[in-house]
Amino acid sequence: MRAYLMSLAVAAPALLLGLSACGNTPTASTESPVASKTNAVGAAAIGAERLIASNSEPGSWLLAGGDYREQRFSQLDQINETTVSGLGLAWYADIDTERGQESTPVIVDGVMYLTTAWSMVKAYDIHSGSLLWAYDPAIDRAKGADACCDVVNRGVAAWNGKIYVGVLDGRLIALDGKTGKVVWEKQTTDTTLPYTITGVPRIVKGKVIIGNGGAEYRVRGYVTAYDAETGEQAWRWYSVPGDPALPQEQPELKDIALPTWNGEWWKLGGGGTLWDGMAYDPELDIIYVGTGNGTPWNQKYRSPGGGDNLFLSSIVALDPNTGKYIWHYQTTPGETWDYTATQPIMVADLNYPATSTSKGGKRRVVMQAPKNGFFYVLDAKTGKLISAEKFAPLTWATHVDKTTGRPVEIPEARFDKTGVAAIVAPAALGMHNWHPMAFSPETGLVYLPVHVSSSTYASPPNFEVNLKGWNTGIGFTAGQGVTPVVAGGAAPKTEAYLIAWDPIAMKEVWRVPNTDPRGGTGVMVTSGNLVFSGNHAGEFNAYDARTGKKVWSSPTQAKVVAAPATFTVDGEQQIAILVGARGLPIGQTRTVPTSANNSRILVYRLGGTATLPAEMPKATAGAPITVKIDPPLLTASNETVASGELLFGQNCAVCHGAAGVPAAGSIAPDLRYSALLHGRNLWNGAVRDGDRAQRGMPGFSTTLTAEQTDNILAYVIKRANDEKAAQEAAAKPKP
Ligand code: HEC
Repeated sequence: MRAYLMSLAVAAPALLLGLSACGNTPTASTESPVASKTNAVGAAAIGAERLIASNSEPGSWLLAGGDYREQRFSQLDQINETTVSGLGLAWYADIDTERGQESTPVIVDGVMYLTTAWSMVKAYDIHSGSLLWAYDPAIDRAKGADACCDVVNRGVAAWNGKIYVGVLDGRLIALDGKTGKVVWEKQTTDTTLPYTITGVPRIVKGKVIIGNGGAEYRVRGYVTAYDAETGEQAWRWYSVPGDPALPQEQPELKDIALPTWNGEWWKLGGGGTLWDGMAYDPELDIIYVGTGNGTPWNQKYRSPGGGDNLFLSSIVALDPNTGKYIWHYQTTPGETWDYTATQPIMVADLNYPATSTSKGGKRRVVMQAPKNGFFYVLDAKTGKLISAEKFAPLTWATHVDKTTGRPVEIPEARFDKTGVAAIVAPAALGMHNWHPMAFSPETGLVYLPVHVSSSTYASPPNFEVNLKGWNTGIGFTAGQGVTPVVAGGAAPKTEAYLIAWDPIAMKEVWRVPNTDPRGGTGVMVTSGNLVFSGNHAGEFNAYDARTGKKVWSSPTQAKVVAAPATFTVDGEQQIAILVGARGLPIGQTRTVPTSANNSRILVYRLGGTATLPAEMPKATAGAPITVKIDPPLLTASNETVASGELLFGQNCAVCHGAAGVPAAGSIAPDLRYSALLHGRNLWNGAVRDGDRAQRGMPGFSTTLTAEQTDNILAYVIKRANDEKAAQEAAAKPKP
């Protein structure tokens, strides 16, 4: 048993003064929830009252999503279009990991709590910026191989003196808000299966609600609620049916979901994991959860003969008290492209104008912009589709039929049915992924980070279960000599931008390009008429919320993927953003001794004069990595390379990128640049023997033969020589 379990013996924290104001029901208390603001530093004295009334306490950022509705909107306006030019760095703190940093801080009772890669938690004093405590759940680094998309974490939840974190290895841990000591911990998953947790726990009326990920591998999705004080399980809701020979856990699995599946999906779990988006509506007392893609992605191998495969890729309304199903809306029936609907979900009131066909008026809605590229507005109470329009140039469907609520697909996109490889937009990363969007009730606009992409999807001739890695059932290349069809006639160009989206008119109002076209980034909006968002080029920017005009920018020395938070220190507005993602912005050198990607928490205030160091402190300097492409000569035959290409697509592309070119933000290196290409023994150490398993590179000795890994090596050498030739051609002076 690992050492950290010892700390379970630590007693629950002493009950803090003033907690009586924070009852467990949303209606119980008449005391002002704001009163608890006077609590001691680090009290995290949050109860239902304070969460529901979070808008009356704009000086705190009580939930990672800003408020229960996850609007990421702040009423603070000291920093506004006029004053923002005086915004400067107040303080920063270096982070001690070099993987992706995706969390939004929670700021309450004088303390900022954030999570970093590897599910570590840090608490800072917001007055001094000093670290109060840090907690490391000591994850076995080999677990990183089960994390499809880096060992990230999106933040904590605070409740009744405790800080809750979901840990990559499937544990849910409650920490004492003042000391960071473990109060309780619970294993929420079967540790023999490749489940992971990267999402934020949500807390509703004393229950901590947490989902998990792993649908790229072989798991069955579910979300569980635990008693926040004891860790005892309250309810669990499964998103896909289990073995049909056994009783189903929930009536809707049997009545609604089961008839939409074929084959033997349950043997690989079926997927549908709930790894990110959730929102709570305290008025309707409904929690909305988003479900993920199927396992395997390719429907031909998951549910031969088709079917909607409920509740994959759906927004589902649940009773937070019991976990009972209320309604669902499926965004991508029979999904086959990894089009999850776990993206951020938001609850809002929209004021519809009167038209010739409707009298208009206020409607309580749920909004989501999932991977598939449509923006959905649903009635929060009934789940009825109000509208669905493209927010990006997708090519898998023409539109959503408003009467049936179903997408009208472009037939060539369904490579699993046609048997013909197809280029489809978006690619698996989606037109919008986990990167938080924001909504301003003042402008009525949603601020949405868009990442346009497309990819080849092909059905390999057969599907074999991979017990160590991904099970997508997809070939990411059409194969040597095969030309894929292009769904929708043309693939859109890869680009990233931030849009302001009118959710009533369902159209884009303004757009600003992301300086670096690769990848998304999180967003926040304020009453100061400002939208704050970073980018992969190493900038943190503010835009006029009405026009999109850039009004402020500050260098971050790191890629920014997380979303900001805002709060006050002694009445003065400040803004915090966690930075760092795989690699460094172009032209940036390393300046953080503890993090190769310059991971830091940056805090800004009006008149702030702190500066980031220009270079690495000398004492700890480690040279930044510069790489030159230098592959060995290609000696293998065309057949060997072709075999390697197929095997690469099946076993390596999920991490190392389609055709060996990793996507931006990918956790795995570009193998074309690897020094290991120069020696079969070196190669085999990583690829067969698992030398780097602790760093997230699984060994393949039990899943691939030596000949197969040789063929993959030949293919990567081929790709490296292609790239070298392309670079040489580009470097030649034009005649
Ligand atoms: C689950 C994701 C994942 C899969 C699947 C995967 N890799 Fe990796 N691979 C990684 C990561 C992460 C690293 C970086 C490890 C490190 O930091 O040393 C890596 C590193 C490597 C390296 C070392 C590169 C260098 O120069 O340091 C090689 C070679 C490699 N992978 C080959 C492969 C091959 C071949 C396959 C398919 C048979 C494969 N990988 C599948 C994640 C993956």
